[in-house]
Amino acid sequence: MLLINKLNKTNQSDIPIWIMRQAGRYLPEYRQLRTKFPSFLDFCYTKDAVTEVTLQPIQRFDLDAAIIFSDILIIPDALGLDVIFKENEGPIVEKITTDKIFQKLNLEHIISYLQPVYQAIKQTRVALSDDKALIGFCGAPWTLACYMISGQNIQNFYDAKKMLYCEPVLFQKIIDLLTEAIILCLKQQIKAGINAIQIFDSWAGLLPPDEFMRFSILPTTKIVKMIRQDYPNIPIIGFPRGGGEKIISYTKHTQISALQCDEFTQMLDIAKKIPDTVLQGNLDPLLLLGDDKQLIHKINILLNQMKPYHFIFNLGHGISKHTDPDKVKLLIDVIRNFTNDRKNQ
Ligand code: CP3
Repeated sequence: MLLINKLNKTNQSDIPIWIMRQAGRYLPEYRQLRTKFPSFLDFCYTKDAVTEVTLQPIQRFDLDAAIIFSDILIIPDALGLDVIFKENEGPIVEKITTDKIFQKLNLEHIISYLQPVYQAIKQTRVALSDDKALIGFCGAPWTLACYMISGQNIQNFYDAKKMLYCEPVLFQKIIDLLTEAIILCLKQQIKAGINAIQIFDSWAGLLPPDEFMRFSILPTTKIVKMIRQDYPNIPIIGFPRGGGEKIISYTKHTQISALQCDEFTQMLDIAKKIPDTVLQGNLDPLLLLGDDKQLIHKINILLNQMKPYHFIFNLGHGISKHTDPDKVKLLIDVIRNFTNDRKNQ
């Protein structure tokens, strides 16, 4: 598997390609299947639909990895909170305001509740060809806490940050519970057949340096350590989105196998500072909405900059739902031509 060899640094010349949110609304075949499920979570818990949607971008574009179709918010759902996805409004999670909620949250419950997800992973791994990696994922504790504490009011996650400072004991209790839940959930994913993991800390950029250390780096370090205790060889990709220069200490401290960079990061600077780290990223997803010439130019700049380093192509964040699938095809062709030219040199 190209992606796994790259994550293990046993292949330098190829560039594995996958795209965050590669199965999603920009694909007409996704939108068609999506209409059969009024509830997004029902869709996520229907194993045959999950397998079908996970494979759609692989069938269309022959990418090097599939990411299991799911969502980071299945963990709050499995813990017993109400989670709803409203069309064009984003997700709404039942809000945690007091300690009383711990009477309701149930860590034991999550393994049985998420069985459809693990069954979907099992059958997707069987259906996927052996040369393609299947990626599992979860949200990091801070990012999940953001949705669980802020509820409907997700503008800047004000309530989550306020609780961090004003009710530190309750806040830490939530982070600790989520850390345990994530460890349980990821171990089940690996047991079901996942080949690599990505941890999405999508809102890490909201944390100042000290809090970034305490609530992004430290819990992630614990997750990585606990996973490696049982599964020492599973590659783990970390994505501390918006972390700026703090992503270097994140990488060193957490001991992740690879670092996903957002589109605001100068990846060449990061590569020079931590040249032994596998870097993944980071084309601006919105470049796919512009013209071909500009897109090709920007891809080539990125590929040339990353040539001497361990590199996996991805966007800096999820692909926009307004993307024309033909642009993805073009992007993949440009990258594959670049690697073929390099091999023929
Ligand atoms: O292809 C893949 O990448 C796998 C599937 C995947 C989804 N969500 C499916 C999805 C993954 C990896 C995620 C991760 C996720 N979910 C994150 C972390 C990555 C990031 O974007 O920063 C976050 C923060 C979420 C929470 C979430 N889920 C939001 C904010 C939304 C609404 C925004 C939107 O794009 O609509 C979702 C819904 C969601 N998750 C959709 C998909 C395909 C769209 C729902 C639909 O089809 O109606």
